[in-house]
Amino acid sequence: MLEQLAQLETEALQSLEEARTLEDLDRWYHAYLGRKGALTAILRSVGSLPPEERPVVGQRANEIKQRLEAAYNARAEGVRQDQLARELEAGALDVTLPGRPVGSGHLHITTRTLRQIYAIFAEMGFQVYEARDVETDEMNFGLLNMPPHHPAREMWDTFWISERATHASPLLLRTHTSPGQIRVMRERYPEPIRVILPGKCYRYEQITARSEHQFFQVEGLAVGRRITMTDLIGTLTAFARRFYGAERRIRIRGSYFPFTEPSIEADIDCILCGGKGCRVCKYSGWLEIAGAGMVHPVVLSNGGYNPDEWSGFAFGLGVERPAMLKYGIDDIRLFYSNDLRFLRQFG
Ligand code: DAH
Repeated sequence: MLEQLAQLETEALQSLEEARTLEDLDRWYHAYLGRKGALTAILRSVGSLPPEERPVVGQRANEIKQRLEAAYNARAEGVRQDQLARELEAGALDVTLPGRPVGSGHLHITTRTLRQIYAIFAEMGFQVYEARDVETDEMNFGLLNMPPHHPAREMWDTFWISERATHASPLLLRTHTSPGQIRVMRERYPEPIRVILPGKCYRYEQITARSEHQFFQVEGLAVGRRITMTDLIGTLTAFARRFYGAERRIRIRGSYFPFTEPSIEADIDCILCGGKGCRVCKYSGWLEIAGAGMVHPVVLSNGGYNPDEWSGFAFGLGVERPAMLKYGIDDIRLFYSNDLRFLRQFG
């Protein structure tokens, strides 16, 4: 048996010397080391030898296996080098050809819009605070002055994550970025606050050209000792003029949100027709850009700020809608359907 092994080794090493191509090498490997190779067969048969021969033969066979494998690897490297040298010589490989261009990506239109918004508010001293997407019923509604069964909850169709009936405060996907207001206040008390809270929001809604069930908002919150409605209007006006153009006019309308008192909505004169009336502004001359108001005393207290000493304003901006207006996009579904022909226009 040992003799047979020695012979096998000599023969294998010799025929390895003769391998010239990668195919030769493959064949060689199958013949000796592969699953059906000669050495593999010997290794398998060790078990059936008389017990006193097993250790010696087994050890020898393994040594040979290691040597053959090492020789194979060395030879394979040699063959590869030879083959490359031959190809280069034959001119099969033109190293002067230009490389294939690697397409470079770019930021998504939503990301770009968000960054424009961050930059404008950063100039006014607002920090970015990212709150969470999965919220409790309490944060999303209750602490924002919408106790269970409050009719205003109907304004937000909700994706529930846990059973409504069995939890004290079930989990949901936030329907707006406003719950972040409570989180910032509880974290920052008793500091004054000036933050924006960007993030994705979710609503259980029919998807149409005007509404997605997933979209971004940027919430704003300022809390301080003497913050007034004038500060809010000034902030929104400054934002609108930086984002939509210096000549924009602002209109403030009274509105209602449970978490602000008083509540307003801010419009700009239509960026397409300048207020004369057109299809984009539905012939009203105005486009809504934000819901806002003075933070409701109940909300301030829920955040830990005594409403007799503190006041604040809050606003909620869309992200996709402003981008649609700015770039003349007429279907919100284009943002997240990953059609490169659409996305590449905003590179
Ligand atoms: N959370 C409101 C919504 O999603 C938007 C909003 C309105 C936010 C008024 C505010 C605000 O902070 O003061 O419809």
